[in-house]
Amino acid sequence: MRTAHLIYFSPTGTTRKVCEAIAQGFGAKKVIHYDVTLPDSEFDTILTDGVAIIGIPVYAGRIPELCLQRLRAITARQIPAVLVALYGNREFDDALVELRDLSVAKGFNIIAAGAFIGEHSFSTPTQPIATGRPDAEDLKQATQFGQQVATKIASNHFDTPDMDGQVPYKERPNFGGKAPQTDVEQCSLCGRCAEVCPSGVIAVADSVTTNAENCIMCCACLRACETRARSFNHPWIEEKREILHKNCSVPKAPKIFI
Ligand SMILES: Cc1cc2nc3c(=O)[nH]c(=O)nc-3n(C[C@H](O)[C@H](O)[C@H](O)COP(=O)(O)O)c2cc1C
Repeated sequence: MRTAHLIYFSPTGTTRKVCEAIAQGFGAKKVIHYDVTLPDSEFDTILTDGVAIIGIPVYAGRIPELCLQRLRAITARQIPAVLVALYGNREFDDALVELRDLSVAKGFNIIAAGAFIGEHSFSTPTQPIATGRPDAEDLKQATQFGQQVATKIASNHFDTPDMDGQVPYKERPNFGGKAPQTDVEQCSLCGRCAEVCPSGVIAVADSVTTNAENCIMCCACLRACETRARSFNHPWIEEKREILHKNCSVPKAPKIFI
């Protein structure tokens, strides 16, 4: 039982960090990563032993659609699973129950779940939203959560806890049409933005082009750009960023369901 299958979609890396801390607390001897973030990372896998830690970022209170599609490729034969919803200090709404329902349908037996906080994708240095999260305290709590999971399994308890969230889930908004831009003066055409893009919408040739229609607005390209040539200043984003910066400035604490 000491193999941990880490299954996650994590464009800006915060979901991954928390999943890793949980695996560490769990005392996993072997950790196998199923990083489904990038377009070429679709695993067609059936898991038959060990424990799964499944992490998703929260987008509009739900699981991002692209992430849902990629997670569907992984199936289990009733192995225990721990669920993680990573959110940007607003709310996680129905994302955890949506992940529970998907995971049950894919053959996982949910024994624990947690909602953790990570820096919001829309956060900037001038308008920070949960900057620095998950911080040392978050990661400590994630590690302790992993220990609690190990104890639960050792005592042969495999029940599914109640968790926050509603069915039917919140309606998923259509975000399409907005994407970060490249400042040609700053851009070195290194191609890093295209490499880290989960939806494969960035093309780099003599200049950088972005197909905004399929952009999921994760902002991985902004974080990866070493020359800070990428920015996301669409008026819709500016407005959201302002609201989130104002209304979500009080740090929330991780919430555990076990
Ligand atoms: C399109 C979009 C919608 C988001 N919606 C929410 C939300 O409803 N609630 C929230 O607290 N954070 C929200 N976030 C922030 C992410 O949940 C947060 O940045 C998360 O840490 C990203 O995970 P990652 O680092 O693994 O990519 C949203 C981010 C994006 C890009």
